[in-house]
Formats: sequence, structure tokens, C-alpha cells
Amino acid sequence: MVLIPTGSYQAFSKEEKASALEYIDTLPVPIVLKADGLASGKGVIIAGSREEAKQEISEMFADKFGSAGETVVIEEFLDGIEYSVFVITDGKKFKMLPIAKDYKRIGEGDTGKNTGGMGAVSPVTFINDDLMINTVLKIIQPTISGIWSKDIDYKGFLFFGLIKKGNEPYVIEYNCRMGDPESQVVFFRLKNDLIDLLESIYKGNLEDHAIEHVKEHAVTIVMASGGYPDEYKKDYKISNLGNITESTIFYAGTKEKDGEFVTSGGRVLAVSSLGKTLEEALEKSLKTCEAIDFQGKYYRKDIGMDLM
Ligand code: GLY
Repeated sequence: MVLIPTGSYQAFSKEEKASALEYIDTLPVPIVLKADGLASGKGVIIAGSREEAKQEISEMFADKFGSAGETVVIEEFLDGIEYSVFVITDGKKFKMLPIAKDYKRIGEGDTGKNTGGMGAVSPVTFINDDLMINTVLKIIQPTISGIWSKDIDYKGFLFFGLIKKGNEPYVIEYNCRMGDPESQVVFFRLKNDLIDLLESIYKGNLEDHAIEHVKEHAVTIVMASGGYPDEYKKDYKISNLGNITESTIFYAGTKEKDGEFVTSGGRVLAVSSLGKTLEEALEKSLKTCEAIDFQGKYYRKDIGMDLM
């Protein structure tokens, strides 16, 4: 059996709370707690002390995240830098899409609460050949083989949330979908016709398609409602959407009201731009974020700066 590299972990149900608390005592801090279900991107907590971890797990088991917290994974914290790898697969073969890095924290310098994602970049400049080869050999291939060996007929996207520790890849999370806001940079750089790729996994000729991507850098910045990821207000008019030339705007938390676009969610827009360099792509997205206006608009100005 091939063991896919990950932090050491154990999963506990509500009924096993006492064992969960004992397990916390065996781990070094910080300690990662993950609600085993969808929690709007907020279900992962990095507890800085064992006391905090115990308090958090008690709250999770007491329905903080509804049914998503009925089982909680307690995991060793891996200190490194994250990247997101996406593949399209017919269940046996796979093709890799452009690699991305997202920025999950609300505050600049990766501070504050976790969000669904405040921005993303592609390509990821710290990915070197050795890391890439190990990512494929130690993580992607064994995952696809595992799915195949269990007779699971899986066709579609797989999202590997990875961390580089030293120069080795470890899995933090899997998703059976693309990422948000990674999609806004991954598809932006993909030259292939997406429909052709999707059809090929059903026709069984994925291997005939070479993945091609543009060399340019893509940066997406999420424009959020003031207060997000906590309470925020809705229904603010969004101005200047019509005058944008250097970026593509992906609409998320918006709706039309009386012929105008207004805010209707925490993450309102994703502003995406291509540039010859990361700096140029960031500059274009920042310029667009400055131009678009709505009451309480908030966005991070440092997306990608850690990689420059
Ligand atoms: N950006 C992380 C996710 O889509 O889960």
C-alpha cells in the first residue's frame, strides 16, 4: 500500500469527544481542527494552544458548524507554504491544469480569519522540478490509482490542497471540484477549450489532449463586503463595472436590482488580470479594484507579493 504524505491525524465523532481531548494532549502546538463537512471555507481552525483546541472542539461538537461538525479531524500542523493543484481525470488517466496559490486569510500578510479565499495567483513561482515530480509521483498518481483500485468511476476535476515543507509535498485537503478563487486564475491561463476537455473524459480520449497554457501570470483579487467573513450588509450599488478594460470580472455575491448590480454576498467580485509578470498582473487587478466602488468594499492589496 502506498501512503500518501500528509500530517498525522485522527478523526473523532461527537460520541468520541473524550478520546479527541486525549489525542489533543499528544500533539505539538499549533493543532489543526477540521470540521468534516462543508462550512463555507471556515471549518478549519488552527489552534495556538491545547486549551484553545479543546475549547474549539467542544464548540464544533456543540453544533458550531451544524452537521459539518459531527465528525472532526484533528491533525498535526505542517509548517510550509500552500499551493493548489488541479487535475482533470477520466478515472484512470489525468491531465494537470495550471497550478495556483490562493490566499485564505482576510487580512494582508495572511492575518486574521479564514475566508473562502481572498485572491489567487498562477503560476506559482516556488514550484521547482523536484517538487513537481514528487507531487505527481507521491500524491497525484497514487490518488488516481487508489480511486481506480476501489472501482470508483470518477470523472471530473480533483483539487489537491498541498503544502511544501522543505521541498516535499504533503496533502492538506482534497476536493472533488475546482477551487474558488483558484479557478479564476487557472482557467484564465488555460488555452484548451474546456468543453473539449470535459467531453474527452466521457469519450475516453483525454490522453489525446495536450494541456496548453499561456505563459503570462494571472492574479485575481476578491472584492468583499465590509465585515466579511463575519456579519456584513447587502444591497449596496456597485459602480463603474462598465468601464473596466484591463481585467475580467467574475461576479459572485451580486444581484440585479432595478437595472443595477448590487452586493448580495460576502465575496462580491473576483477581479482577474493577466500580465507578463506577477507584478504587472497584480497592478492591473489593483487598478480595477480601485476603480470599482461599493459601500464598505474591502480587498487585499498584497495578493502574490510573498512570491515576488
Ligand atoms: N480556495 C479554496 C477552495 O476552493 O476550497
